[in-house]
Amino acid sequence: MFGKKKTKPSIDQEQLALIKYAEKRIKQKKRVYVHFVVFLIGAVFLILANTVLGIGKDVTIAGLNWFVIAIVLWLAFFIYHFISVFITHKFMGKDWEDQQRESLVAKQQDRIEKLKQQFLKEETLIAKSQAYNETLESISPQQKKKSELTIIVAAGEHNAIGKDNDLIWHLSDDLKRFKSLTNGHHIIMGRKTFESFPKPLPNRTHIVITRQDNYKAPDGVIIVNTMNDALDAARKDKQPFIIGGGEIYKQAMSFVDRIEITRVHHSFPDADTFFPEIDLSVWKETNRKEHAKDEKHEFSFTFLTYERKV
Ligand SMILES: NC(=O)c1ccc[n+]([C@@H]2O[C@H](COP(=O)([O-])OP(=O)(O)OC[C@H]3O[C@@H](n4cnc5c(N)ncnc54)[C@H](OP(=O)(O)O)[C@@H]3O)[C@@H](O)[C@H]2O)c1
Repeated sequence: MFGKKKTKPSIDQEQLALIKYAEKRIKQKKRVYVHFVVFLIGAVFLILANTVLGIGKDVTIAGLNWFVIAIVLWLAFFIYHFISVFITHKFMGKDWEDQQRESLVAKQQDRIEKLKQQFLKEETLIAKSQAYNETLESISPQQKKKSELTIIVAAGEHNAIGKDNDLIWHLSDDLKRFKSLTNGHHIIMGRKTFESFPKPLPNRTHIVITRQDNYKAPDGVIIVNTMNDALDAARKDKQPFIIGGGEIYKQAMSFVDRIEITRVHHSFPDADTFFPEIDLSVWKETNRKEHAKDEKHEFSFTFLTYERKV
């Protein structure tokens, strides 16, 4: 019941193809031989038909008897048949066809491989950017920001900040706070504020904005002609500061992220420079610290931090 299966004698596909091809070649060669014999008989018949039977005796083409033309044409056709079987088929035979097929298949495989590589590259890029976006989504908006541009200012009542290109008060603890917050950072200022300093402040990178072409400043001070260039010069700093004065604050209010303001609780009617109004629909107070009036400080003041709401 479960006896061995009888094995049929088998012939592999390649051998089968070779046999078929050999048979085809034999048939082709036979046809050439038959064609040759028919041509010889036909040629003799045409000559006899003309010369013995007198068929078309007077018919000539370009000065030649018609049978000569017919035989030459037939010979040309036979030669074409002969060449096609013994030369064309020999050189463009099965091996040539196989070679052509293999080279076409190789080309296709090469193309498929390239497409695969390209697809993989694109997939990797997409995966990377998805991972990047997911990472970005998982961190807070505050972390996402590369830098936090901050205004630092001291302003009295009615936003007074200066007079005759100078400050109107001297509050040492406010100066200390200014120094500690801005220490090691880029400080961006208008030309007039820069000129109100006796000399550049230590351990800070000064960026001075002016419309003048050849403005001269001590070594290390960066001179720029536009606000954009100032921001560009400070782009590597995580917290660059805008330190004044009035003109520069006014231009920077719309794009800074944070305001550190010391509110001096006194009115200065003689002031000639002012800080812009802080719009509480845009800014929210996030920190406050009171400082009382004392023997070192002529006025009381409050350190306030505002952060942009949106
Ligand atoms: N209380 C505080 O916290 C505080 C802080 C800083 C300053 N201040 C006071 O503020 C006063 C100075 O302020 P300010 O408004 O008169 O002057 P400023 O803002 O310091 O400087 C104005 C100058 O900056 C240049 N500038 C402004 N916008 C520019 C732009 N978009 N492109 C190119 N250059 C531009 C121009 O320089 P050029 O004329 O050279 O072209 C302009 O004259 C002083 O009294 C100072 O003491 C107070």
